[in-house]
Formats: sequence, C-alpha cells, structure tokens
Amino acid sequence: LNYLTPKSRQEVLDLLVTGLKRLEYRGYDSTGVAIDSPDNKDIVMVKRTGKVKVLEDAIQEHFSGAEYSEPVKTHVGIAHTRWATHGVPCERNSHPQRSDEGNSFVVVHNGIITNYNDVKTFLSKKGYEFESDTDTEVFAKLVHHLWKKHPNYSFRELVEQAILQVEGAFAIAVKSKHFPGECVASRRSSPLLVGIKTKTRLATDHIPILYGKDADSGKPQVLPRSDSTSEFMPMAEKEVEYFFASDASAVIEHTNRVIYLEDDDVAAVRDGILSIHRLKKSLDDPHAREITTLKMEIQQIMKGNYDYFMQKEIFEQPDSVVNTMRGRVRFEENSIVLGGIKDFIPEIKRCRRLMLIGCGTSYHSAVATRQLLEELTELPVMVELASDFLDRNTPIFRDDVCFFISQSGETADTLMALRYCKQRGALIVGITNTVGSSICRESHCGVHINAGPEIGVASTKAYTSQFISLVMFALVMSEDRLSLQQRRLEILHALSKLADQIREVLKLDSKVRELAKDLYQHKSLLIMGRGYNFATCLEGALKVKELTYMHSEGIMAGELKHGPLALVDDSMPVLMIVLRDPVYVKCMNALQQVTSRKGCPVIICEEGDEETKAFSSRSLEIPRTVDCLQGILTVIPMQLLSYHIAVLRGCDVDCPRNLAKSVTVE
Ligand code: G6P
Repeated sequence: LNYLTPKSRQEVLDLLVTGLKRLEYRGYDSTGVAIDSPDNKDIVMVKRTGKVKVLEDAIQEHFSGAEYSEPVKTHVGIAHTRWATHGVPCERNSHPQRSDEGNSFVVVHNGIITNYNDVKTFLSKKGYEFESDTDTEVFAKLVHHLWKKHPNYSFRELVEQAILQVEGAFAIAVKSKHFPGECVASRRSSPLLVGIKTKTRLATDHIPILYGKDADSGKPQVLPRSDSTSEFMPMAEKEVEYFFASDASAVIEHTNRVIYLEDDDVAAVRDGILSIHRLKKSLDDPHAREITTLKMEIQQIMKGNYDYFMQKEIFEQPDSVVNTMRGRVRFEENSIVLGGIKDFIPEIKRCRRLMLIGCGTSYHSAVATRQLLEELTELPVMVELASDFLDRNTPIFRDDVCFFISQSGETADTLMALRYCKQRGALIVGITNTVGSSICRESHCGVHINAGPEIGVASTKAYTSQFISLVMFALVMSEDRLSLQQRRLEILHALSKLADQIREVLKLDSKVRELAKDLYQHKSLLIMGRGYNFATCLEGALKVKELTYMHSEGIMAGELKHGPLALVDDSMPVLMIVLRDPVYVKCMNALQQVTSRKGCPVIICEEGDEETKAFSSRSLEIPRTVDCLQGILTVIPMQLLSYHIAVLRGCDVDCPRNLAKSVTVE
C-alpha cells in the first residue's frame, strides 16, 4: 500500500512480483495479482498457473500501455503465490479470488477455511454462483454479501464480520473497488505481518490496538497505556508504505520495521493510517502491538554466486553452525549459556521426560540427538512426528517438557501439537529459525538456531543448526554432573573443530557429483546405518525423495535381516555409513551381509580407514569427530548427493514438485 512517493502501476506491479519471488518457496503452483484500473474505478487481475516468472511475463504483456506508467499518489495492490489445498492448480483457482464479475472485493488467502462448504451452501441460497473450487472464493463472496446487507459498514467491519463466520486457518488480505486506497488483512493460525516504510524515523514503536465494536460507541476505543502517562501515538505518518506479507523475506528489501499480527487481529489501512482492531478484550490482552526491527539483510536471502538456494545453504554450513554457537558456547571456559532457556533449566531438570516433536527434517534432528540427550540428561526422551503425536492423543503431563522443533516456526502440525501440550500444562520449548514465528511466540522459552534465512524447500543448514542447538541443550543439562565432565569436554572440543571439518567435507563436492552420475538413472537408493548415524539415513533418504523424485529409504542397519535385505542384489544402489564408533562392528556385519548378496555399496567412512574402504570400490571419507556429532558430517555428503542427482535429472532443486517450504495447513 503506497502513500509514500508517487509510483506508476507498473512499479507497483514490479514490487508485488518481487515480493512474490521472495515468497515463492512457500508454495508455487499458481500466482496472481490485482491492482486498480487506470481510471481507478475497477480492479484488474492477472492470474497464471505455474511459477512467478510466468506471471511476470503475463504482466509485461498485459500492462504495457502508457496509462500504466503514469505515477499515482496512492495505490493498493495484492498478489499471491499458491500451493493448492482445495482445487487443482489452474487460473480459475488462483488467487486473488473475487466476489463477483465486477471485482467488488478481491481476496488473497493462505490456509484452509474448514467450514467453506457450509458458507458456500448459505451463499448459494442467496444467489451466489461460484467459479472456482477454492475455499477462498467463499470469503470474497461472504464479504460482498455483508456489504449488501450493511451498506454503512466500514471496510474493516465487513471483513471483521466475515472472519467471525469462518473457521479454520487463514492469513487474508482484501481489496475492494468500493473502498479505494484501503486494504484489510487478518490472520488466524497462518502467519501475517505488516511492514512499515517511512521517509523519516517512525515516531512510535507501538501501534495501539482498538477494541470493541464500532456500532457500540460510534468509534472503537483506544485504550490508554496503563504504565505511563503518555498515550500511544496512533500511526499518524501520512507518507508511508505498508506491506502485508506472510513472511519477512517479502518485505525486507523495503523495510526492516514490522509488526507481527496475532490471531484474530484485523489490520486496516485507510488514508495512509494503519489501525489494528480486535472485537473483544480480555484482561491480559495487550494495549498495543510492538513494531519490531528485523536484523535480516537482503543479501542473506539472495543466491549470490550459487545456482540454487539449496546449494548456497549447503555451503553456508561452516558459518551457520558457528552462528548457532555464537555467544553461547564459550570454548575457553568450557561453558555454555542458552539465554532463551537458562531460567527454565532448574524446572527442566525436575521433569518427568523430554518430548521432541517436529515434522520432516526437523523431526530427524530430534532422532539424531536423542541418544546424546538420553545420555547427558539421564531422562527418558521421546521423539514424535507432530501429526502422529496428535492422531494418538498422546498422554501429556504437567511435568513433561516438550520441545517443538521447526525451521519456519509455522508448520501447522507442529503448532497444533504445541497447543495441545500447552493446554495440558507442559513446559513448551521452541527450537526455531524464525524470530517472531508462531511457535516462537507461543513457547514458554526456546532456542533460536540462528542459521539465517533458509529458502530452498529442502532443509539443509537448518538441520545441522537444530542438531547443534539440541547438543548444546544436552551440554547445559549436564553441566553439574561430575561423572559426565570428561564426555562434555570431548564434545566441546569436537564442536570447536566442527566448522573446519564441515569445510573439509564440502571439498567432496566434485567426488559426490561423479557418484551422482552413476546413480541418477536408477529408480531407487537405499541408505543404511545405525546408532548416531541412523538419522542421517532418514534425512538422506528424505532429501533424495524430495529433490530427485527417486525412491529412497533410510534403513536401520540393525533391521536389515528383518526385511530390507531382500531388496539387495547386484543392481540395487546402496549407501552405507560405517564409522569407527561403538556400533562399528555391527555396521561391518551389515556391510558383509550386503556384499555377500552381491551388493556393491558406496561407503561413507572415516578418513584413512583402509580396512573399511577395502569392502568397496567407492567410498566417501569424512574427518573423525566425536560419535555424537558424526551425524553432522555424514549428512553433508547426502545433501550434496541429492542436490547433484536432482540437477542431473533436471529437477527444480529449490522448488520440488508438490512440496512447500512452510506447511501452514494440517
Ligand atoms: C515441509 C518442508 C520440509 C520441512 C518440514 C518441517 O515439509 O518441505 O523441508 O522439514 O516442512 O518444516 P519446519 O519449518 O517445521 O521445520
């Protein structure tokens, strides 16, 4: 929403498209945009199936006329990139969705409106005809219906009434030709933030929340601040640009000042003024929303010299692991401080058990560190997939400590599991990479993994940073256990060498590419290991599946005899992790089982381990580290391998088909 400097419609479109590109990793099967028509009387929409680039080309064609290059003082535009939940990807189902042929109200929406069928039936009876298969369209039509019923309502009131009637999850932005220069947005369970860009420094760092119904008092109330004599300044700047976005990466090149909206906040911009409104106020509701300053830099989300974000993120790991430890691990003093949870450590030490909950790669980081957590905390540790955990209505007790691990901090399944545990009185610890995310805000305490923005859909550097965060937690928990000091020192020493060792592993890149050439035409890849490296097998197989669409399985080597061995023959590609740790002998046993079935596995082993290497013509050697950190060094060749296979197979590395980076729907 531009009220700052006159911009042409083409510039507004450019800005929207760039924003979409930054968000493309969230989902990308279709896109769309809506702006005001040159005479300001109508709304023009362009929608396309496919990636943002397709929309960009269509925009160039559609909006090339001189009338689109004339600057206008104020403008409101909305745009969307979709990852289909209801209705196949096609132009008709792309957003913005509209209320009627006249484009009275147009809507972009993330999430799922679960009662859309009921609303649709209601609206159909009122004569509305639906043109898409989306749940979103019912929202646009519902607002339209309310507008006809309440012609005196403000735009904000209309949207507010509409959200009262929908159930499910949403982040929604609405534009209307009846309310030019205005935009209303709201959220429930899906992320949404407001970016604020002004010419001069903002006069306030808070936006007051307006409570109550306009109808009751004529105007909603601004509650005075209780802890000070001064009242909050309303957002008074007139020269301002606002951005509603589901993720900070879409706005960071314009401003680093943002407000994270909370569930059921309705944010409205009118005449350049932003207001945040809530229908009801309960006792502990705050008076204002804080304007946060983001530390993210635009360079952090640019690809630089790499071909793909994923490739860049793999190669960033020597730095990202250091960033995770920065200011926390003091190697000279052999001590660790985790500021975000330090006050809760005594409570955690008294708990009944630790539960680690996540999805996808984040879940694997829990599998990877479980053994060390059991060893150093001497507590029972359960690792759970968020979806399954909820399906089982798992019993949770007040003295449980539940960790929610999530790169995005927005994964719906993980967030639901968090709320489930919180309701039952457990202590909630968030392990996320996204400051201000829902999981972050709803946790009692937590650890930011500080890996930096991760854009590639397949998670890489977030995994190694989650891994290290959990290792640091285990070290904090064992600080005063005398019997564990030797072990702690060994791990701390290994952590100090980790970044350099990751650099060494990354040098395997060209060797891994050669290996990928041998493998990329196969249908399947089995990855075997056990102990500390089982998580690498699961994570490696997930990377291969996500990126290359090849079948891949992570196999616990101890289970080989119980089934998977039947898959092995001279043509089945197998990769085995065999390191010099307490399960070495057992891994060698598995290796022999495979070779005696004519299998010819690729081996990941320790540098200079000739004895193990002798079992195969192909091996990848990694530096030696302490057993519990091996998983960090063994996962990197797997990340590189899946990357190279994907490139060779012509797959889109950063945007694998059917997947999204942040799954904000259940
Ligand atoms: C999606 C992504 C995965 C990710 C998982 C959990 O499925 O494609 O790469 O591991 O979500 O995401 P989170 O943000 O919670 O770590």
